[in-house]
Amino acid sequence: MTTAKSTSDDSRFPFPAVANGWFRLAYSDELAAGQVLPLSLLDRELVLYRDEEGGAHAVDAYCPHLGAHLGHGGKVEGSGIRCPFHNWLWMADGSCGNIPYSEHIPPRARIHCWALAESNGIIMAWHHDAGLPPSFEIPTLPELESADWTPLVVRKWTIKSHWLDMNENSVDQVHFEYVHGTATQPATTAEVEGHLLKCRSRMKMSTPRGEIDGGIDTDDHGPGFQVVRVHGELETLMINTATPIDDELTDVSFAYSIKAGGDDKLIEGIGASIIRDLEKQMAQDIVIWEHKRYNRRPLLCEADGPLSVYRQWMSQFFSEGAVRS
Ligand code: FES
Ligand SMILES: [Fe+2]
Repeated sequence: MTTAKSTSDDSRFPFPAVANGWFRLAYSDELAAGQVLPLSLLDRELVLYRDEEGGAHAVDAYCPHLGAHLGHGGKVEGSGIRCPFHNWLWMADGSCGNIPYSEHIPPRARIHCWALAESNGIIMAWHHDAGLPPSFEIPTLPELESADWTPLVVRKWTIKSHWLDMNENSVDQVHFEYVHGTATQPATTAEVEGHLLKCRSRMKMSTPRGEIDGGIDTDDHGPGFQVVRVHGELETLMINTATPIDDELTDVSFAYSIKAGGDDKLIEGIGASIIRDLEKQMAQDIVIWEHKRYNRRPLLCEADGPLSVYRQWMSQFFSEGAVRS
């Protein structure tokens, strides 16, 4: 079990840096077999590595022996990792498999291993304050297994804001008009199904061929994995993963795919312009996110959209007492 740092009273946000849920550590193609990656994520130092059979593993970075960082010089061996300092071998189950200069392994020798899930081209880690095992799964998205959809195009940002405040955007129907300049505010509903939050927005979209009925379907699978399907001139899929770095910073990434049916012209033309538009929207949001604070008791009006549904849903991902009241 590992414990996140507590949040100071003067923070812009009343939450701890990390909630209970799945968070992206890396994209699958960022980790080759035998590779070791040091990561500063989830309010701590971690080491992600891939064994020769292709399995991904993550452990806390600091060796329990004398504290070397396994991500700087550690070597993959079988499904374990050997420390660069005195060569202890840490196994994928967290046990110590070998101390080359001692026959006796201390019975309490263990390193914290993270539960990982790799699907949709993303390596996700499960975090729980109390060390509880995963309570839900990340779905495999059918679009990514279809030749009609383009390979994921990935964009990343480091943003000075809390992931939870940014995710609230999907239910904030009013900001689309004033921040993103849409002609109308989308009508948005939000429905909770356990760990899943389903937001549905319907709106008119302007295209070169005139106005069409469009929509955005957003599914949040816990705090760190959001799937956005945009229905308009083209069908677009976005996987939004926000991983806390610490109390202030978040590692945000969008991965886009477009239903182009193998049509290269479509991919280069409309597909590229959709991605440019999404990036422009992101830049517009970032200005707000980086400077705002989270109002625990916001002054809302009746036309503000289902913000309270979102806030109620996300509260399930914090352990009791973790959020400052
Ligand atoms: S610090 Fe890792 S083996 Fe000594
Ligand atoms: Fe936005």
